[in-house]
Amino acid sequence: MIIHHFLRSLTLVPFLAAREVVGSPNNAKQIAVIGAGAAGSSAAYHLQRFANESDIAINVTVFERTDRIGGRTLTVNVYDDPIEPIELGASIFVDVNYILSNATRDFKLTVVDPGAEEGGLLGIWDGDSFVYTQDSNSWDWVNLVRLFWKYGTVPYYTQKLVQGTVATFLKLYEEPFFPFRSLSTRAFQLDLVKITGMTGRQFLAANNLDGPFAHDIVQASTRVNYASNLEFIHGLGAMVAMAPEGAKAIEGGNWQIFANMVKASGADVYLNSAVTGISLNANQKYKIKTAQESGDGESREHPVAFDDVIIAAPFQFANISTDENLIQHPIDTIPYAILHVTLFASPYKFSPAFFKMPPASDVPVSVLTTLGTDEEAQPGKSGAGKVGFYSATLQRIVMNPRTRTPEYVYKIFSPEAVTPDFLSELLGVDIPMSFTQDDHDDENSAADDSTIKPVSWFHAAVFHPYPQKYPRVTFQDPILGDGLYYTSGIESFISTMETSALMGMNVARLIIDDYAGVTHVEDEELVSMPSVPKYIDEEQDVLAQQQQKTAEHYGRPVEDTNEL
Ligand SMILES: Cc1cc2nc3c(=O)[nH]c(=O)nc-3n(C[C@H](O)[C@H](O)[C@H](O)COP(=O)(O)OP(=O)(O)OC[C@H]3O[C@@H](n4cnc5c(N)ncnc54)[C@H](O)[C@@H]3O)c2cc1C
Ligand SMILES: *[C@@H]1O[C@H](CO)[C@@H](O)[C@H](O)[C@H]1NC(C)=O
Ligand SMILES: *[C@@H]1O[C@H](CO)[C@@H](O)[C@H](O)[C@H]1NC(C)=O
Ligand SMILES: *[C@@H]1O[C@H](CO)[C@@H](O)[C@H](O)[C@H]1NC(C)=O
Ligand SMILES: *[C@@H]1O[C@H](CO)[C@@H](O)[C@H](O)[C@H]1NC(C)=O
Repeated sequence: MIIHHFLRSLTLVPFLAAREVVGSPNNAKQIAVIGAGAAGSSAAYHLQRFANESDIAINVTVFERTDRIGGRTLTVNVYDDPIEPIELGASIFVDVNYILSNATRDFKLTVVDPGAEEGGLLGIWDGDSFVYTQDSNSWDWVNLVRLFWKYGTVPYYTQKLVQGTVATFLKLYEEPFFPFRSLSTRAFQLDLVKITGMTGRQFLAANNLDGPFAHDIVQASTRVNYASNLEFIHGLGAMVAMAPEGAKAIEGGNWQIFANMVKASGADVYLNSAVTGISLNANQKYKIKTAQESGDGESREHPVAFDDVIIAAPFQFANISTDENLIQHPIDTIPYAILHVTLFASPYKFSPAFFKMPPASDVPVSVLTTLGTDEEAQPGKSGAGKVGFYSATLQRIVMNPRTRTPEYVYKIFSPEAVTPDFLSELLGVDIPMSFTQDDHDDENSAADDSTIKPVSWFHAAVFHPYPQKYPRVTFQDPILGDGLYYTSGIESFISTMETSALMGMNVARLIIDDYAGVTHVEDEELVSMPSVPKYIDEEQDVLAQQQQKTAEHYGRPVEDTNEL
């Protein structure tokens, strides 16, 4: 340890001296990052780190359309009170999410165990009955014993399968698999295309793990995590949905990871700046046009010409025009799920009647869902089936500042907007049609203010949260052209904060290695790889059928809304 420190201090001296020369403004490589979500923030952060290590001078500029950092990772405030922020978007990550876990450690952020706070029953509802309940709200393999009681050894072997799959995925973090110019090739080399090329149900069946456990538990996980039934999500997505070991969240909001990354990157950050166009100038450098969100709507050219540009947002929703031929490898439009997220506070627990239970039953406070035994799985919006929603879960218990009584804060994931009728039935109390209206500073008397309301606070949003992950064997690669990079191709492989951050880190490594003249042994190999792996041909029938089926359902891209 001491020797190690000594060596480090020796190398630091010439390092810093060299940097002063190379680091002169004229030589700095200009790099633009478009979008400050998990991917863009991680790209900026890792660019700075890798550039520092390789002694390359860079100047990073981040453009973000909204007025905040985090993208689909964002909080809102319960009762509009800043002391009660709650996740509206991405809410959990896990121990093996190394980039997020390391950042949490390095930025000294406080971790909380989501769901553990309140306890209470967790149940899986199929529209007729609870097919499974457990004591803990927190969804963890700790409950294996109870699962074993109901499902025999299948949960154990499913867990093994999940762990094996995750271990294979983690090779993407290490040489020789990291960094990667082609995700398709890496997925093939790691044999993961076998898993992404079939549905979750097919993959479980291939491992003799189809049956009640898959139907009840695995499907409840794919529904709450990816708004999808097992027939319409690929095997890798299903495995990832089942991997919540060591689930955690950042106290006050996960977006802080990304805000810290951007800050540590030292990048120039332009908020409220939507990139509207990318073009090449006469010197083969990239020029970027931006429009101020609150401004006159006019696009203006950013003064700096860029050596590299990273597009760190789903291109189909980014509204960026490019010169013809600028993008040498066109970005496919992919179908995204549509998810309504509804947060609300109420003094009421879920009604036993809603769940067809006798009055005064102990109703689960957190409800995941699956299909009824008689139901056929549907894709997309109708996939929720007769229960009509993916999950309705207690998030925390808070003190209503007006009535000074404790209330429950719930989150509902559903394919359609939550209606007052639905809430009335769920809570077993009449919810007025006006419940969504902001009645905080109305002109009613102070006495009115302390009235107990069935829904005292409400916030709803609609997202394109992640792609509909139907089976596929190729993925949009991160290199779009010379100096032009794209991070969101990884979303149809796995869509999480961590995987976006991984792609951001990967692109950062590729850029800095290019400048440092570092090549990776396997890069030549990559060029000669067939774009569609050979052995897939043999399984083509099964895959073709499945892809045909899913393409029929999902073939058209979802409508672009102004939402995330
Ligand atoms: C409700 C919900 C629940 C989720 N739950 C989880 C979870 O529990 N755990 C998990 O890991 N993941 C979860 N996810 C998925 C996770 O949020 C995403 O995979 C991840 O955040 C994507 O990060 P990104 O940086 O790739 O994209 P984004 O977060 O979408 O970031 C893209 C950014 O680019 C900006 N942008 C777009 N166009 C432009 C432009 N033209 N100019 C400038 N800026 C632009 C956007 O404003 C945005 O800030 C969830 C998502 C949702 C919506
Ligand atoms: C770095 O980028 C910012 C924003 O694009 C620009 O204003 C600044 O002049 C650049 N600095 C250098 C040293 O190139
Ligand atoms: C580069 O790394 C060194 C050593 O870790 C650190 O002291 C220095 O602050 C870093 N420089 C920048 C510009 O990040
Ligand atoms: C996380 O930190 C550990 C310990 O410092 C390090 O070995 C590992 O490479 C880091 N991983 C990532 C993805 O940053
Ligand atoms: C897309 O960009 C155009 C012009 O740059 C603008 O007029 C339009 O409002 C934008 N659309 C969205 C959905 O942001």
